[in-house]
Amino acid sequence: MKTIFSGIQPSGTPTIGNYIGAMKQFISLQESYTSYFCIVDEHAITVQQEPLKLRQQTKSLAALYLAIGLDPAKAIIFIQSEVSAHAEAAWIVQCNTNIGELERMTQFKDKSAKNSRSGVSVGLLTYPPLMVADIILYQSNLVPVGDDQKQHLELTRDFVTRFNNKYSNGNHLLTVPEVKIPKSGGRIMSLQDPLKKMSKSDDNKKSFISMLDAPAIIRKKIKSAVTDSSGVIEYDSENKPGISNLLTIYASFTDFSIAELVDRYQNSGYGQFKEDLGEAIVAVLEPIQIRHNELIDSDELDLILDEGAIKARSVANKTLIKMKNAIGLGRKN
Ligand code: TYM
Repeated sequence: MKTIFSGIQPSGTPTIGNYIGAMKQFISLQESYTSYFCIVDEHAITVQQEPLKLRQQTKSLAALYLAIGLDPAKAIIFIQSEVSAHAEAAWIVQCNTNIGELERMTQFKDKSAKNSRSGVSVGLLTYPPLMVADIILYQSNLVPVGDDQKQHLELTRDFVTRFNNKYSNGNHLLTVPEVKIPKSGGRIMSLQDPLKKMSKSDDNKKSFISMLDAPAIIRKKIKSAVTDSSGVIEYDSENKPGISNLLTIYASFTDFSIAELVDRYQNSGYGQFKEDLGEAIVAVLEPIQIRHNELIDSDELDLILDEGAIKARSVANKTLIKMKNAIGLGRKN
């Protein structure tokens, strides 16, 4: 069975962008892959976090993983910082990566510009090598992510090829992963500025819907989403980015295709469309929220995370030992 790995940062509550771009894919993929779903708390601390809040968000994200339908009998769910091989492997990756490669990363450029006043941590620059470590430790074949992670996956593939050539004569010491981005919904845009990506760290809370937003808030945010003045519901991401984004969201939360939605709303205005879209999102998120709230402080959740960490450690340590042996660290194991 092939292996998938993916992670989400507990740097806030996931948005419907995270859900559509990444989490929704996880649910079906767990059926046919050996699956690792990680809560990447070490990635979250590349920008400042409040300790208590971070810990609460970490557990909340774990509860959300389960609430959307990830099944611990099928998938390994764990917290990154509880498997120390990630930080160790990241060091080896860093020592085999050029600074230039990291400075070119779009996410580094964006985040360092955004955090320039509070100071940019070294971790923000070396964030991608930690992500490379996450992926290679499980010999992952496939990484389901949203569009914004494409560049990090290219870096991972380059690293693995280079590492295999240099330290194992081109043999498959590490697996070269493929990226998996959904055909539609790989980049959900802000509700307030549809030319900008929806992000959980956006200062304007109206720009995103969090997976734990109350139904009334969800309806309100959709109602106030920026569209255009034409009043015609059609998909044209260049000229009508707002309504096109809402169509993508609507199709992702229902069984309708975008074409079917366009057809269905051809004689309606934006008002009716937005009202129905709000209801469609609530219909999916409300049961997830109820399950999340049951799980958040449960022993069941702790047990699943304990077991996930044990399983992840055993696999990750095997790869780490292989890497150390290949590059000559310590005495041979
Ligand atoms: P993060 O926490 O920013 O986002 C988690 C996942 O959600 C996707 N995503 C989106 N998809 C569609 N539209 C959006 N507006 C949107 N915003 C976010 C992201 O692409 C991602 O798949 N570096 C990663 C976390 C990570 C990781 C990994 C992922 C760490 N190690 C190893 C895969 C494999 C990140 O910052 O995700």
